[in-house]
Amino acid sequence: MTTTRTRVAIVGAGPAGLLLSHLLEQAGIDSVVLDSRTRDEIEQTIRAGILEQGTVDILAEVGTTSRVHTTGHRHDGIELHFADEAHRIDFPSLTGRSVWLYPQHEVLIDLIAARLAAGQDLRFSTTVDSVEGVDTASPSLQGTDAEGQPFTIEAEFIVGADGSRSVVRPAVAGSATNGFFREYPFAWFGILCEAPPSSDELIYSNSANGFALISQRNETVQRMYFQCDPETDTAALSEEQIWDELQSRVPNTELKRGPIFQRDVLRFRSFVVKELRKGRAALVGDAAHTVPPTGAKGMNLAVADVILLNQALQALLLRNDERPLDRYAETAQKRIWKAQHFSWWMTSMLHLSPESTEFDQMRQLGELRSVVESEAGRTYLAEAYTGWPFQTEL
Ligand code: DHB
Repeated sequence: MTTTRTRVAIVGAGPAGLLLSHLLEQAGIDSVVLDSRTRDEIEQTIRAGILEQGTVDILAEVGTTSRVHTTGHRHDGIELHFADEAHRIDFPSLTGRSVWLYPQHEVLIDLIAARLAAGQDLRFSTTVDSVEGVDTASPSLQGTDAEGQPFTIEAEFIVGADGSRSVVRPAVAGSATNGFFREYPFAWFGILCEAPPSSDELIYSNSANGFALISQRNETVQRMYFQCDPETDTAALSEEQIWDELQSRVPNTELKRGPIFQRDVLRFRSFVVKELRKGRAALVGDAAHTVPPTGAKGMNLAVADVILLNQALQALLLRNDERPLDRYAETAQKRIWKAQHFSWWMTSMLHLSPESTEFDQMRQLGELRSVVESEAGRTYLAEAYTGWPFQTEL
């Protein structure tokens, strides 16, 4: 049994865990980062592609090898399509901000490279089996390393940044399921295809045939989604059927078709854990909350949690001041619930449930029209989409 001592043990090498280890190191606080996945799995899993302005700024600021400004694309707006009309929401004129299309796995490639170059103790294929002592000043983790050997990590603080199936959550929240939860009766069928972009900007379309999102990756690869039943078998549709389905939902735009090389079904869930922090342990990112994908808030919200927790940990570990940590949960929850509301609102405005009536459809169109025809409505959407300013004081 090997035992490692560190100041902060971070479970999860996703955007939240990696960014936190980076910020802590800048403040002179050492950490160990553990992840049950291999580096390849982390770097290759397809996730959403939109970064808020503030997320881009912090990735650039922390001096990671981020290629976000060179490989990513700035987007100054989105299109909302409904009732055979196209309406553009212009972000800079409404909010002074933009978003960047830069897929999450690219962020992870950058962050992992930066952490390893900095000599971070970052362990892949490493599982955490138990979390102990969060009510004491010296909590610990027991786990199994990539070679199957047991190990212990003794720390001053433990962070659960380990995603929606977090193993740290029960130690903080009392159980894996102690939270506010909502499931949706639909999902997204996502594809990656080899084709040029069909539109300069992302299209969110509410059509009589259901929702579609036309997103992008680069000049030659595109990402698109259409609403489907959660039980849909991705292999059951031919490429032509997928293209016809997508095209029927964006009647205003001719989609440029090409070979589809990846398909997946994304479940829709909303979840917020009831306890974000207990003693010397706290949760960030998907370990603390899940949002439905509409509006791409997931990773951005994780970054907002990390910015707060970083301040709380610096106060605790550098100045022995526990007060910011005592405010972490309440402060983080305010933004979490705003993002929960925005993701739910975009979802509910753009999708039809199996139970939806004609009244619901007509009401949705009224809601969309209220948003696009009012500067206040467009501004509300643009502020949320580009991201509320990060809170930098706790
Ligand atoms: C993407 C995903 C989203 O959920 C979204 O709202 C916008 C873009 C994407 O994967 O490109």
